[in-house]
Amino acid sequence: MWYLATSTLRSTTHKGKRAGLEMVQTHRAQRRRSKTAGKEGSCHVDEESAYSSSPSTYHTFHDPADVVLLRSRLLSWYDEEKRELPWRTLAVTESDLNIRTYAVWVSEIMLQQTQVATVINYYNKWMKRWPTVQDLAAATLEEVNQMWAGLGYYSRGKRLHEGAQKVVSELKGQMPRTVDSLLKQLPGVGRYTAAAIGSIALGQVTGAVDGNLIRVLCRLRAIGADCTSPAVTEALWGLANMLVDPERPGDFNQAMMELGARVCTPKGPLCSQCPVQAHCHSHHKVHVKQETNSRKLLGKLDRKPSALPDIEDCVDGRTCPLCPSEPWDDALGVLNFPRKPAKKPPRAERTLTCVVVRPGEEGEDEYLLTQRPNKGLLAGLWEFPSLLQEEKSSDTKQRRALCAGISRVLGTHLTDSLLQYVGEVVHIFSHIHQTYVVHSVRLRDSGTQTHTENAQWLTRSALQEAAVSTGVKKILKLCDSMQSQKEQTSKDGKRQKSTGPKKDRKPQTSKKPRLNAASGGGGSGSSSSRQLSLSSFFTTVKQEC
Ligand code: ADE
Repeated sequence: MWYLATSTLRSTTHKGKRAGLEMVQTHRAQRRRSKTAGKEGSCHVDEESAYSSSPSTYHTFHDPADVVLLRSRLLSWYDEEKRELPWRTLAVTESDLNIRTYAVWVSEIMLQQTQVATVINYYNKWMKRWPTVQDLAAATLEEVNQMWAGLGYYSRGKRLHEGAQKVVSELKGQMPRTVDSLLKQLPGVGRYTAAAIGSIALGQVTGAVDGNLIRVLCRLRAIGADCTSPAVTEALWGLANMLVDPERPGDFNQAMMELGARVCTPKGPLCSQCPVQAHCHSHHKVHVKQETNSRKLLGKLDRKPSALPDIEDCVDGRTCPLCPSEPWDDALGVLNFPRKPAKKPPRAERTLTCVVVRPGEEGEDEYLLTQRPNKGLLAGLWEFPSLLQEEKSSDTKQRRALCAGISRVLGTHLTDSLLQYVGEVVHIFSHIHQTYVVHSVRLRDSGTQTHTENAQWLTRSALQEAAVSTGVKKILKLCDSMQSQKEQTSKDGKRQKSTGPKKDRKPQTSKKPRLNAASGGGGSGSSSSRQLSLSSFFTTVKQEC
């Protein structure tokens, strides 16, 4: 049947549109027939319910005219409202297919789990530095990590780099030209990413289901079963493949994403601005429920039937694999869809870390950084010497172990009594709630060298540019805020000494150090605009080493 899900790619000819038109005509004939039947006085068959008599038709689009209308409404809205984004511009203006495919690939990888607004700058810098897949292949992983620093999910950058090297060394520098080959040949490219690149860069007619589309499609077709279940996943891909505009597949997919990002949002959807509101089962449900509730409030006074058509619903919600297992919640409205399984809470980890500073040759302080292993979390990134805390081990033991690690790196002996406690920084990864327990130590000897391969001294400005994670920058911010507090306290102390006799002074409250720079306290906010030197902060270290 025409409306059944198809994952077969259609070429960008008029074939798809013709098929659509034929269906429109067939459907119109059906409609005429049902109207006549009604007029002739036989049992009235409601036009809508005739098409929503099985679960498959309720959760899909059974009227081809509807599909044509939805496409046209959505695309008109997109043409008017879309944001100009650098990858969109490139996808339209770049005539070299290889560069266009590469440019869209980079954008899609960056956009995984990351907001458009965050990606724009990274994308522009990246494309400026590596405008072709060949340029990226020639870069080092260190350079890629450096460019990716702050964007998160660092394995994405690494995979892009590996993919570029593969394209150059195994595919003669030619980017794959089909959804299938994108999926097979490029590391880090899954079903969605291949479909997005294929449709946007190559004009392949395929739907592309990302997080935004899951939400939009679930709402459009009132799909309330667990949206990560295989049944829902397949249904959504079927819907996306059915809806995609054969003439403008890339624009259609991006229009759906845009709708999800700006109108059909997770928490505050703007239904009144939605170009496809008329096609939305969830929105319809909200109206029907409101109408029913207000009629209930009016009680027996109002016996007239509702102005709204009968509640369209799945005919067998109890057994339907796409229907919610939980009842509709009036308070949620369209937010009843989609439903996700409860998220596992992130596991809590504590990491002991130490900011080791030495005076640099040029008078600028330098910081000791060590490199993380090449695999796993934050692979290959640079960080302050750190040690994951074990629950069973005592604090003293762990501080000693951290000192032993730093001593190995520096080829010197550092005792744990030299470490000064600074505070704590919280950083949330997708699956880990990480608390960095920050210490510091200042070395007097500018000549202290590193004795292991994966360690280096960096000035503060070099550190800001290096392949470091956001956690490292938060730790620096905490140090800055401690520094400004310390300066303030010492200023207050001086003022006190120079003003009036002791009895006139207000008692001083001892300021506790702010413990959590990650929570965005005033300290860290001011530190970003006032880049203070850490040097005076570290002068309180008890002993020289
Ligand atoms: N998210 C994923 N791909 C996107 C695109 N091309 N435009 C906007 N948001 C997106």
